[in-house]
Amino acid sequence: MSKLANKVAVVTGASKGIGAGIAKSLAEAGAAVVMNYASAKDGADKVVAEIKSNGGKAIAVQGNVAKAADVERIFAETKKAFGRLDVLVNNAGVYQFTPLEDITEESFHKLFNTNVLGLLLATKEAAKYFGEEGGSVINIGSAVTEIHPPASAVYTATKGAVDAVTRVLAKELGRRKFV
Ligand SMILES: NC(=O)c1ccc[n+]([C@@H]2O[C@H](COP(=O)([O-])OP(=O)(O)OC[C@H]3O[C@@H](n4cnc5c(N)ncnc54)[C@H](OP(=O)(O)O)[C@@H]3O)[C@@H](O)[C@H]2O)c1
Repeated sequence: MSKLANKVAVVTGASKGIGAGIAKSLAEAGAAVVMNYASAKDGADKVVAEIKSNGGKAIAVQGNVAKAADVERIFAETKKAFGRLDVLVNNAGVYQFTPLEDITEESFHKLFNTNVLGLLLATKEAAKYFGEEGGSVINIGSAVTEIHPPASAVYTATKGAVDAVTRVLAKELGRRKFV
């Protein structure tokens, strides 16, 4: 039997790039996958079709991870389509470098709202849906927190925050078998 048979995974930001790759790998391992996207419906639909053509299960659900109401809807749709939740991959992110002189309030909030607040809102909601046997939350960090490239102050700060939040929530949720 496939390793993730009968498991259900939500992957945020799965319309392209790393998220699409993660979604395809989870589906190959047997999981039913909910592919979240913000605006690229065509991209998400294409990956869903590819997964289905390979015998897997997947749906695409639009939603901005930085908006609580959208996040609530993503997980409600997951429950409606597949009846349970076992894995959350917090992948949605804005990967953007900006030199110091070009940082604005708007660019700062866009990155922090997506990369950090979105991860917190999705994890908060997923924790309500995991069953008694627990669940897995996978957060996508970045090597920038080790190599500190120039012009990445805001992006690197978001990924430093992701690392910190991951360690805190491992302690906070670990006792509930969420790892
Ligand atoms: N690229 C790299 O070299 C690299 C390296 C290390 C870590 N990472 C991390 O890996 C993750 C994915 O990066 P990537 O390069 O694959 O990015 P990408 O190709 O730009 O894809 C970003 C994905 O996130 C979605 N997204 C953006 N804002 C969103 C929001 N507010 N709500 C929901 N979905 C949203 C996009 O959806 P739409 O297309 O619908 O807008 C898209 O599916 C990010 O967390 C990034 O920081 C990337």
